[in-house]
Amino acid sequence: MNTELMEIKNGTLFYDGCDLTQLAAEFGTPVYVYSQNVIKSRIKELKEAFTDDHPKNRIAYACKAFCCTAMFKLLQYEGLCADVVSGGELYTAIKAGFPAERLEFNGNNKSRGELELAVEYGIGRIIIDSLQELSMLEEICAAKEKKMKVLYRITPGVKADTHDYIITGKKDSKFGIPLDDDIILPYVKAALDSRYVEFLGLHFHIGSQLFENDGYIAATGEALKLAEKIYTEYGFWIKELNLGGGFGVTYTTEERKPFSFFLDPVRETIEAFAMEYGLEMPALVIEPGRSVVAEAGITLYKIGSTKDIPGLRNYAAVDGGMTENIRPALYGAKYTAIVASKADAPADKTVTICGKCCESGDIIIKDIELPELKTGDTLAVLSTGAYGYTMASNYNRNPIPGVLFIDNGIAEWAVKPQTYENMTANDVIPKSFLEVKNG
Ligand code: LLP
Repeated sequence: MNTELMEIKNGTLFYDGCDLTQLAAEFGTPVYVYSQNVIKSRIKELKEAFTDDHPKNRIAYACKAFCCTAMFKLLQYEGLCADVVSGGELYTAIKAGFPAERLEFNGNNKSRGELELAVEYGIGRIIIDSLQELSMLEEICAAKEKKMKVLYRITPGVKADTHDYIITGKKDSKFGIPLDDDIILPYVKAALDSRYVEFLGLHFHIGSQLFENDGYIAATGEALKLAEKIYTEYGFWIKELNLGGGFGVTYTTEERKPFSFFLDPVRETIEAFAMEYGLEMPALVIEPGRSVVAEAGITLYKIGSTKDIPGLRNYAAVDGGMTENIRPALYGAKYTAIVASKADAPADKTVTICGKCCESGDIIIKDIELPELKTGDTLAVLSTGAYGYTMASNYNRNPIPGVLFIDNGIAEWAVKPQTYENMTANDVIPKSFLEVKNG
């Protein structure tokens, strides 16, 4: 359990200087709460491990983990780059005034409209996933008389030890270009010959929530083998290698590994390779998402109804559920929680925290030891900062909660809570309905 910047005062839980019970009362629940200081401390750790001593390298935060305009502002102030995967994420970056050259665009099926927006804004890199995408991008660049820097995403064919749904580097994947010579080499040739793109190098992402470094090392080996072939065939040595994201975080009992555990051996492998062949060290890029925001975010709920089924299970329902945290239902993800309103009471009851959605699988935490829960108690579910808000839905027409940014005792909205009005704003009654009624 990660309790960084948390303390208990007069029986209530404080986080980054804010009384969470008071926050829940003032701003309403459910609500996502992010400590800016925890995000900044992760960014500092990443810089220490990757860019401070290697200024050519870049950290491109994968904003799919948590995305809003305030987050882009924070990244901008911290000097980071960002990875977007959709027109919507790109639009959010543009709206935040995020520097174009610090953006890179990933994704296996970018639309013409999305690529046009990217070229128009003049973003830094596009990570190309298919030959069709290269052709489409060339057409767009030709029409706009622009040139775009590109990398190719490859599927290195390595197995990462994580949930099957979040493995992405194996050969049988919808992402990336397979490494067969007769497929990848003509791709590279097409990019090198193009007037409209500047080919910089290769990209891979092997999976998410990883705790071992062997997958990264193996994938790097595959990427270097390909880089060597490209050099031999076309005399071009890669200028960039993007290693993706995936660094694991603490949800319950996992031990987060230092970033250097993953990054040092990879950098050393590439340095040794470059040295052996007398080639320049390429710039390295990483795309951490979860590891920047997961542990910074918590979700506050109010307890509603409770029920004890004798000899079976005790339930306590919160005023949210799978709508703002789909991860337990989707991946069997585990979380832990603290009763913010009685944080020092003994944890002497086993309870299952369920949501309010019409699904039996709408369980946030199964069988956790907590103090006896009563209606009105404030519950803080920890480490919900990644892939919670960004995967939230309006299931059962529950509004998506707001996001609070907190910093040394000050709390402010970063995203206001969705209202019923917002939620129904795009609903339209088809004209034909009225005609039928009138006719
Ligand atoms: N780069 C690429 C190309 C990716 O596909 C991803 C994540 C990342 C970077 C960031 O990975 P991270 O550092 O966050 O592990 N919804 C799932 C996670 C899906 C991850 C997809 N790609 C979850 O809630 O666990």
